[in-house]
Amino acid sequence: MKTNVNLRPYNSFGFSAVAKYFIEINDIQQLEELIQNDIFKNEKHLILSGGNNVLFQNDFFDGLVVYINTRGIETIQDNDNEVIVRAQAGEDWPDFVRYTVENGWHGLENLANIPGKVGAAPVQNIGAYGMELKDNFLKCETIETATGGKRVFSKTECRFGYRESVFKKELKGHYIITSVDFKLKKNASLHLEYGNIKTYLEQNGIENPTLLQLHDAICAIRDAKLPDVKRIGSAGSFFKNPVIERMQFEALQKNYPNLPHYDEPNGKVKVPAGWLIEHCGPTTGSDTPSWKGWRDEHVGVYEKQALVLVHYGKGKGHDIAKLAERIQASVKAKFDINISPEVVYI
Ligand code: EPU
Repeated sequence: MKTNVNLRPYNSFGFSAVAKYFIEINDIQQLEELIQNDIFKNEKHLILSGGNNVLFQNDFFDGLVVYINTRGIETIQDNDNEVIVRAQAGEDWPDFVRYTVENGWHGLENLANIPGKVGAAPVQNIGAYGMELKDNFLKCETIETATGGKRVFSKTECRFGYRESVFKKELKGHYIITSVDFKLKKNASLHLEYGNIKTYLEQNGIENPTLLQLHDAICAIRDAKLPDVKRIGSAGSFFKNPVIERMQFEALQKNYPNLPHYDEPNGKVKVPAGWLIEHCGPTTGSDTPSWKGWRDEHVGVYEKQALVLVHYGKGKGHDIAKLAERIQASVKAKFDINISPEVVYI
């Protein structure tokens, strides 16, 4: 265990925050021992995986940061049609997805290149290009922080929702995910319906994409829209896409006929927060104020995707929190819609 560790390399926003205590976990036994340790028992603790979805608001974390870096991928079951594959929590998500695709296993390809680690993926039920983690999730193994006991969570027990799970809500902080099992198919049709996948494939002369070609196409589409966190700090989408009542949507559509929307099973309508943020902005005297591409010294709104807040270096987490509040107020004032962060504030 180390003391006074700067967490800058451990959060994709790249904010400096010093942790009072810090430990890197490389195997489960080490984690089991840690749970019996007095520092773990007495101090506030934060389980950190890739740090791709957190915002450190303060310069100091007064507690223990547990960085999960356990590795390993194994095939648990394999038959003609399906495979069950288990990845340890510290495995890199993009590498794991690529490994499954290279083996010809279907199910995770649309989730290609989402920065982060396997253990964090169920926490917010990561999703992209028409698919979510829950679609192929089987179960995950965890350790209870209070007792050190092992517990397996089935898909139902995880209570997945849009960027939500039991680990982000009711059981927040109570369990540490140590490995995740996925059930993947050896033959399946590809999901090409979302957004610009088809356009991208057409433009690149690909008629019937293979699994690997789809994977690579998704990587290219993402790279074109989202910042490379090695160069510009970000946490991907900062806000969730809001779901509104149909009546409100129909009223809005009269004024904004181009407002994109997706029907929800419950009759409500999901609208893209990125569009809302692009179509309102700070008062600058411009006829069409927009947050997209807006920058205030060290932080701003990414110029290619308004849902992504960015840190250009030298800023503080607090600056992003303040910007997020301004954006929320602006969206509320113009569209009467509340948008809430997807990112977890620490
Ligand atoms: N849009 C705008 N302006 C913008 C951004 C988006 O008008 O600045 C419009 C687009 O034209 C499109 C719609 O909004 O009509 C949706 O945009 P996009 O396909 O880029 O997706 P998103 O809803 O903004 C979500 C996920 C992303 C995921 C993409 C692709 C959330 C919160 N975000 O973004 O996930 O990669 O779909 O599936 O659901 C993440 O969670 O960190 C993340 C990057």
